[in-house]
Amino acid sequence: MTASPLRILVTGAGGQVGSEVAAHLPHQEVIALDRAGCDLADRHSVEQAVAAAAPAAVVNCAAWTDVDGCEADPERAVLVNALGVRHLAAACARAGAHLVHVSTDYVFSGEKDGPYDEWDEPSPRSVYGRSKLGGELEVARHAGSWAVARTSWVFGRRGRNFVDTIVGRAREGAPLRVVDDQRGCPTYAPDLAGALARLAVSRLPGVYHVTNQGVCTWHDLAAAAVELAGLDPSVVGTMTTAELGRPAPRPANSVLSGAAWAAAGLAPLRPWREALAERMAATVAAGREA
Ligand SMILES: NC(=O)c1ccc[n+]([C@@H]2O[C@H](COP(=O)([O-])OP(=O)(O)OC[C@H]3O[C@@H](n4cnc5c(N)ncnc54)[C@H](OP(=O)(O)O)[C@@H]3O)[C@@H](O)[C@H]2O)c1
Repeated sequence: MTASPLRILVTGAGGQVGSEVAAHLPHQEVIALDRAGCDLADRHSVEQAVAAAAPAAVVNCAAWTDVDGCEADPERAVLVNALGVRHLAAACARAGAHLVHVSTDYVFSGEKDGPYDEWDEPSPRSVYGRSKLGGELEVARHAGSWAVARTSWVFGRRGRNFVDTIVGRAREGAPLRVVDDQRGCPTYAPDLAGALARLAVSRLPGVYHVTNQGVCTWHDLAAAAVELAGLDPSVVGTMTTAELGRPAPRPANSVLSGAAWAAAGLAPLRPWREALAERMAATVAAGREA
């Protein structure tokens, strides 16, 4: 006897991660809503979306992810990333839906000497990080049944993204310097989406760090992408975070360990280089067809 499909609502479905979740839920009934369908900044919109869907689970990929934008507009950051999540969590509790909420390495200061595990104390340095920590706390307070999946350094397949920007600049022969004093775990959006789908269906509770395996700097990631695109990686120069001078502070150490994920018996995501190779092969093939 086959299990009847679960109805799963995906919010932020227009984003890098949100657009990938439905593909990992082929046997479930997925309702995917972008900002027009479920606006976290609008309580009524959130409540209506959840009540209308009556889902068994919600995967929340919606967030205001512009880190420097958040620094300049803390009210909007809190409105979307914390209060919006409160409304979503409360609506899930009313609907009896399990909430899988995506959070970030930026909840940590980056000062730890070693990987952050799920039980380390968050201490965000940026407005974005604080607003996302607010979202985590709202989930824990208001959702009846929930999981938080913290991830880092997401590279997706479409839209504006780090990998395409870097490779595009390398192709144009534009000057290219990338920071080499931040360390983290790159995460391929489709791989993360698969993990989120798994958390939604299994209803596993708790906080999980979910990234591809392996640690590198942004410079390493850029050079690897350029090389996989068939270009010379030595065109990618280095710079420091201080030289880049972005408005919002970034953690120097963003490395997340997946201790809780492993303890739950879940298989680790593949190494980031493997995921990047797959992603670049698809990009190169698409370029040949265009
Ligand atoms: N990207 C990373 O490197 C990274 C790292 C760690 C954690 N994360 C977390 O991963 C999750 C997914 O991020 P992502 O990389 O997929 O980001 P993304 O591509 O920016 O997607 C976020 C989506 O949220 C939507 N959104 C923005 N404001 C909204 C609102 N008020 N109501 C509803 N939707 C809204 C955006 O829609 P519009 O385009 O219409 O604004 C966008 O489609 C987020 O929780 C983020 O904090 C990301």
